[in-house]
Amino acid sequence: MEYSEKVMDHFTNPRNVGELENPSGVGTVGNEKCGDIMRFYIQVTDGVITDAKFKTFGCGAAVATSSIATEMVRGKTLQEAVQISNTAVMEALDGLPAAKAHCSCLAEEALHAALWDYARKNGLDIPGLKPPEETEAE
Ligand code: FES
Repeated sequence: MEYSEKVMDHFTNPRNVGELENPSGVGTVGNEKCGDIMRFYIQVTDGVITDAKFKTFGCGAAVATSSIATEMVRGKTLQEAVQISNTAVMEALDGLPAAKAHCSCLAEEALHAALWDYARKNGLDIPGLKPPEETEAE
């Protein structure tokens, strides 16, 4: 199994690890099969994501995908952020081995769960955003 240089870079030197003190939205998701858990924090100001952080208890690919997702989402509007899919995350990392594709889904789901949390708290409807799975990992 081969990992791209970008995956290794984000795994060994992950960006934006940690928590936001008063986040606008938080999303926590888990993958039942591997047991990995990811929490994603976003700060939203005037409809734009100004900051994002993450905490991932999981595999290297999960760390790398959440790390790059925090970079991708900064400066995006809510509507643009919804468009960040697991495919986009994988492309930004120059690909992942097929067996690790599900790890990028965790990044998409965690980001979307944080967006959902923000939308719910603010009574917003973000077109294209689906509610997170019922079984949220805590
Ligand atoms: Fe579970 Fe990668 S093995 S997220």
